Amino acid sequence: MLNQPLIWDAKFEIGVEEIDQQHRFFLSLINRLSIELERNDNQKYLLALFSELNAYARFHFISEENIMLRAAYPNLEEHRRQHLELVEQLHAKEWKLRSRSSAEEGGHIVAFLVQWFLVHTSQEDKQFADFLLS
Ligand SMILES: [Fe+2]
Repeated sequence: MLNQPLIWDAKFEIGVEEIDQQHRFFLSLINRLSIELERNDNQKYLLALFSELNAYARFHFISEENIMLRAAYPNLEEHRRQHLELVEQLHAKEWKLRSRSSAEEGGHIVAFLVQWFLVHTSQEDKQFADFLLS
């Protein structure tokens, strides 16, 4: 059984509008993926959706890092390292999804994405927002 969809909540907002908008969209992609995994009837679309999520994650990270660069954020390198780590983990998961049954792998992927989203945005991204808005 997969996780329940994670509904966007004001508590996820970090206070930087551009980043919050992207986070909202990223969360909607996680939910779309979760629904598709649950359905489990179109492997080709599922993989295409996962590619979309990966591509969006990369775009979002660069966008976020550019905002940090402009603000001369002192923790940028560490933050970038964490983004890179997730990009690598997402690629590994995409390979697993391609080679194993999606039902077997899907629950892990959604749980991983939701967990990562919650922890990273509420801690690392929030830290940056506090720096930017102070
Ligand atoms: Fe981030």
